[in-house]
Amino acid sequence: MPEPLSLAVLGCGSRGRTYAKIAASFGDRYRIVAAADPVAVRREAVAALGDSVAVFDSAETLFAAGKLADVLVIATQDSQHFDHVMQALEAGYDVLLEKPAAESLERCEAIDRRARELGRRVALCFVLRYTPFYSTVKQVLDSGRLGRVISMRSHEGVEPFHQAHSFVRGHWRSSRGSTPMIVAKCSHDADLICWLGGSAAASISSYGDRSWFRGENAPEGAPARCSDGCPVAEDCLYDAHRYLGDKRRWLGMVMDGADEADDDTVLGFLRTSPWGRCVYRCDNDVVDHQVIACELENGITVTHTMTAFDYGRAIEIYGTKASLKGGLPYHEAGAPELWLRDHEHGTIEPVEIHKPADEGYAGHGGGDHGIVDALDRLFQGPDALPPGLDGLAGHRLAFLSETSRLNQCPAHPGEGTR
Ligand SMILES: NC(=O)c1ccc[n+]([C@@H]2O[C@H](COP(=O)([O-])OP(=O)(O)OC[C@H]3O[C@@H](n4cnc5c(N)ncnc54)[C@H](O)[C@@H]3O)[C@@H](O)[C@H]2O)c1
Repeated sequence: MPEPLSLAVLGCGSRGRTYAKIAASFGDRYRIVAAADPVAVRREAVAALGDSVAVFDSAETLFAAGKLADVLVIATQDSQHFDHVMQALEAGYDVLLEKPAAESLERCEAIDRRARELGRRVALCFVLRYTPFYSTVKQVLDSGRLGRVISMRSHEGVEPFHQAHSFVRGHWRSSRGSTPMIVAKCSHDADLICWLGGSAAASISSYGDRSWFRGENAPEGAPARCSDGCPVAEDCLYDAHRYLGDKRRWLGMVMDGADEADDDTVLGFLRTSPWGRCVYRCDNDVVDHQVIACELENGITVTHTMTAFDYGRAIEIYGTKASLKGGLPYHEAGAPELWLRDHEHGTIEPVEIHKPADEGYAGHGGGDHGIVDALDRLFQGPDALPPGLDGLAGHRLAFLSETSRLNQCPAHPGEGTR
């Protein structure tokens, strides 16, 4: 039996706890040895998953203790990643880093350079690569059944309430405090494009705007908070009172103790926190729709659509022998989850997706479980990642898409960002 991979967790919020819980469920393969978070209940929740876990109330105290584990899981907020990962590299850690790696492309490139210099691995939490769905897509591509891939189309429907929760009311509402929407949400898609396309982007054009979640679209008489007696609450898709009912699961990601909270406590939270605000009267500036058109270095052309107003991801890959299509928006409408159309025989056949019996599609389509399952392979043994920032190509595509959108002209690697 190889030694278990030891993990320290920096940032024990929603993501840090998710990875730690999954790691603990793997028994002897992983050992959680340290947890750091300024909020005691959060670090204690992670500490409870291991034996004699060292706890720290800040990143500073964790780093002052020297290298405590093989891998540091960094799940603090976007704007903290750069400082935390740079300190982790100097301290000698390999890192599992939440995406986005940093709030600018230049900083992502600096992480990559420093990691190479020091011989450290940084894996980004591109959990979708590890889902049964996208691993099957990759297997079909690698099998050669599609022939030469000529072009691809990808789609992300964020979902209206999710958009409101995270990108209008929530943590990622402003690109100044975090990163642009196309990075914060679609760095997954940008990563998938480069990973599945087998190439980095050469030229990128992008358009998008914040068209709906703005003051002029507020219903007449809508107050600043849903709890202030909104006249249209009953018909509003975004009424914060839905957190008490069908949208309750979202609350657990932003409110400590949400699972045990009674309705009065939740109402108190909604009266004072960002999540009780009218979605048309927030301080948000990120887009609610954006499209990318790009050419990869290997000649494959790709389009990607991000919209608040659809549900789930879809992908279409067009090859010389066959095309492969699938994803939630199709599946919901009755199509197979993934299917292949063979050009020569004119056949359409569903492609089987192997889902683990225990985890299935929970947690990012099974990706949260999948990435933790892959950690020892990523960081130990003959197939371990090379030093550097794995996933930089996708981040470059996402950041340059924002540059293109802002400058209204194509963007290219090496020209810098805006
Ligand atoms: N891979 C994905 O699909 C995915 C999904 C959601 C979020 N994310 C990313 O994961 C990251 C974390 O998101 P989250 O939803 O867990 O946020 P969160 O706010 O729940 O967690 C962040 C935690 O960091 C802690 N923290 C703040 N300052 C700290 C410090 N100096 N030292 C130690 N801990 C500190 C906070 O107290 C909090 O508990 C973000 O970068 C986000 O963009 C990734």
